[in-house]
Amino acid sequence: MTTKVISRRERGRNLTRFGKGERPTFYITTPIYYPSDRLHIGHAYTTVAADAVARFKRLEGYDAFFLTGADEHGQKIERAAQAHGKAPQEYVDEIVATFKSLWAELRVEYSDFIRTTDARHRVVVEQAFQRLYDQGDIYKAAYEGWYCTPCETFWTERQLVEKSCPDCGRPVELLREESYFFRLSKYADRLLKHIEEHPDFIQPVSRRNEMINFIRQGLEDLCVSRTTFSWGIPVPFDPRHVVYVWVDALTNYISALGYGTEGDASFRRYWPADVHLVGKDIVRFHAVIWPILLMALGIELPKRVVGHGWLLVDGGKMSKSKGNVIDPHVLIEKYGVDAVRYYLLRELPAGGDGYYLEENLVGRINSDLANDLGNLLHRTLTVCERFGGGVVNAPGAPEGPDEELIALTEETPEKVSQHVDRLELAEALSAVWRPISRANKYLDETAPWNLGKDPEKRGRFNTVVYNVLEVYRFVTVLLSPFMPGFPERVWPQLGIAGRPELHAFASLRWGRFPAGVEVRRGAPLFPRIETPK
Ligand code: MSP
Repeated sequence: MTTKVISRRERGRNLTRFGKGERPTFYITTPIYYPSDRLHIGHAYTTVAADAVARFKRLEGYDAFFLTGADEHGQKIERAAQAHGKAPQEYVDEIVATFKSLWAELRVEYSDFIRTTDARHRVVVEQAFQRLYDQGDIYKAAYEGWYCTPCETFWTERQLVEKSCPDCGRPVELLREESYFFRLSKYADRLLKHIEEHPDFIQPVSRRNEMINFIRQGLEDLCVSRTTFSWGIPVPFDPRHVVYVWVDALTNYISALGYGTEGDASFRRYWPADVHLVGKDIVRFHAVIWPILLMALGIELPKRVVGHGWLLVDGGKMSKSKGNVIDPHVLIEKYGVDAVRYYLLRELPAGGDGYYLEENLVGRINSDLANDLGNLLHRTLTVCERFGGGVVNAPGAPEGPDEELIALTEETPEKVSQHVDRLELAEALSAVWRPISRANKYLDETAPWNLGKDPEKRGRFNTVVYNVLEVYRFVTVLLSPFMPGFPERVWPQLGIAGRPELHAFASLRWGRFPAGVEVRRGAPLFPRIETPK
């Protein structure tokens, strides 16, 4: 990818250039989820990924705003509510409560949760729709075409595949309505130019190429209102119509910031978004319809739309009818939130699909978390307690493999930061694992359990213990955005729970670990999961 990477020195300059309260901003969003059903681990992946990025940016000193929410209008929701014998609002209220409790369980720290049924959202949609109509970008015409309700998408006859939705393969319905149309076609050339001039606008590059081809084939004006159901935002100047659910939904990214209202301080502060993180299936809405809506409204475009792959299960996509939906609650209950977050973020390669397999989750826990990460601390604290009285002493001059371990550890924060900037979270985690693996090997090479027995080798023993614990401090800070429960279990063991300045990104300079602290070995951080042979 071609993202411009800012070096740490530059970043440091950036950060120090801004006074307190004037930190650089970063705005990241997830899609707003349909409350037609409970969420599964695919949705959890996107939200945890955006959360990890926002937390990482905050760690680096950014004022990061992270938005998620619920997309509550439309025919699909109206029908789901009917099927449950409930009024739509009552139905969505119940499901949205389950979204929020899932995010709390997953330790997702959003800055705001927008609901398209919020009054603050509705006014922004009404205003935008009215404005587009007043300036002639929305007009009324007869519509005849095909509609896929599960995808809430219009299709022309020519786009159908075997008379079904080309995206999901389900049956479509013929619509004949007087509708309002949005002049997408008018802005197609401007959008193409923007995409060409901003190579990072759509990522990964495969999606970018797909979008370029799609636009080049010609954009048709978009039907942006419906009359056959009523669960939506009424068109302000013609309330028999409700606003098309995707126009309604996309507007969340600015309505949550108070765009166009008196309370628009957040909009002025955070817009344009740095990243809209979305699944590959909805890149088209974010990379075509959304930017054109913004252009028509005279609003700056988001900097990046990043499409991630899908988490597939045995049998392909997760679906209720196949009975293969993986419930995140069950996994959290069984394996703990840090392990589930780690697995999700470690398994899905940037841009590509990944497969969920419980065996792989257990494998990751046993090898990466229990063996590599957990044991590294346990082994070191064991020798420190047994031979060093549990006190970390100042290191002596480096020798043998020390320099290599130190250099590798020192370069890691910048590496991780660059991967996070490119939304390569699996790669960011594997970059953290390099010093972890090196430090485990370092323990084998230096064998502090032998050094500790020899009074003449006390100096070397101190150096080895110090070095590994300093690596551990780096690693713990870097993992905090990914596994937010991890540091709070590590700091007391390292004896630096009360030293928040040593938990900061800015403290990742080798040698800050304070000599003289007392460590306290605790229970294993990640117990091995015994699997039946
Ligand atoms: N409501 C729209 C989004 C509007 S955004 C302005 C929507 N909702 S959704 O609930 O159906 O899907 C939300 C997101 O979940 C999409 O990005 C979709 O790609 C993602 N995922 C759904 N199943 C998934 C997996 N199995 N794996 C990864 N992501 C998945 O679309």
